[in-house]
Amino acid sequence: MKRVGLLTGGGDAPGLNAVIRAVVKTAAREFDCEVIGIRDGYDGLLEPNGVATLTVDDVRGILPRGGTVLGTANRGNPFARRVVRDGVEKVVDVSDRIVERIAELSLDSLIVVGGDGTMRISRELVHKGCPIIGVPKTIDNDIGGTDVSFGYDTAVNIAMEAIDRLHTTAEAHHRVMVVELMGRDAGFIALRAGIAGGADVILIPEIPFSIEPLCDTILQRAETGRHFSIFAVAEGARPLDGEQVYADRGDDLRVARLGGIGSIVAQTITERMDMETRVTVLGHLQRGGSPTAYDRWLATRFGAAAVRLAGQGLTGRMVAIRGTRIQHVSLDEALAVPKRVDLHGDAVQTARELGICLGEPAG
Ligand code: F6P
Repeated sequence: MKRVGLLTGGGDAPGLNAVIRAVVKTAAREFDCEVIGIRDGYDGLLEPNGVATLTVDDVRGILPRGGTVLGTANRGNPFARRVVRDGVEKVVDVSDRIVERIAELSLDSLIVVGGDGTMRISRELVHKGCPIIGVPKTIDNDIGGTDVSFGYDTAVNIAMEAIDRLHTTAEAHHRVMVVELMGRDAGFIALRAGIAGGADVILIPEIPFSIEPLCDTILQRAETGRHFSIFAVAEGARPLDGEQVYADRGDDLRVARLGGIGSIVAQTITERMDMETRVTVLGHLQRGGSPTAYDRWLATRFGAAAVRLAGQGLTGRMVAIRGTRIQHVSLDEALAVPKRVDLHGDAVQTARELGICLGEPAG
């Protein structure tokens, strides 16, 4: 193995730079192999100045930094790329050009760090003959085939700290504080941060909620002298009789964005109860800043493992963690079933046992 490419795609997540550093150092030390950094996801393979050699010197000091030194792109799908030709906007398939570029650059392997969207694109490129190894990244923790993706732990810690801070102001003002958390269609961030932060109500997409149990929780707390409540609401949560709420419904090129359910929950509580509510949308704070020790550790192990797999000449595989062991799975396996909160797992059971309201109707 003489040369590997490396790109980061999709939304950023804390730990991307730790992967980049681990790939570059492992490739140099163990394989005497050059790493070609590709800017802004797959887009870098289509742009004139989109690639450059990454040396060990280039990755010094980046381990604690959030973001990605390579840049990333949410819309970088080479199978559906927006181009303007003769003043007319078109969507074209430029995937053949990606295949050509990988050959032109003499890449023995391309290491792609991304979420499910990026893994799906990568699987199509593998079908076209590209040698690709995937590394799972997302704060949402919704990629199949791996117990955890890096970025998730940092997001949970930021959300937990926000819940801690909301507690003191909620108590001071006797308010219901609603915090809307990211996660798309998975409730992992809200559930874990909600339990870790001691939320009174946790709403997740996997459990459509009714308003009555939320009101009952507020009343029961008031009866025992606690005139405030904390609601951790996943952006993908939806009422039993309603739909998910979108900030932007997206289109063929733009990924849809969830957002707004927190305000609807707060407004409904205000209308039904004699309680003041306030909403905090934590948003991209959950993705920014320095990764936790766990995410640095996982991302570093993923990066080194990806180079090892590339060195074995494997393709169409994604590094994964199962239990405490680093393993690898096929991209097909990773993408077969999106990961969601296990309704029969111990986290949901624990929440119920602690009396946390999950919005489930009584009985
Ligand atoms: O997938 C990560 C994530 O942060 C989701 O939790 C969230 O719904 C989405 O990305 C936000 O996307 P954008 O960065 O495009 O606003």
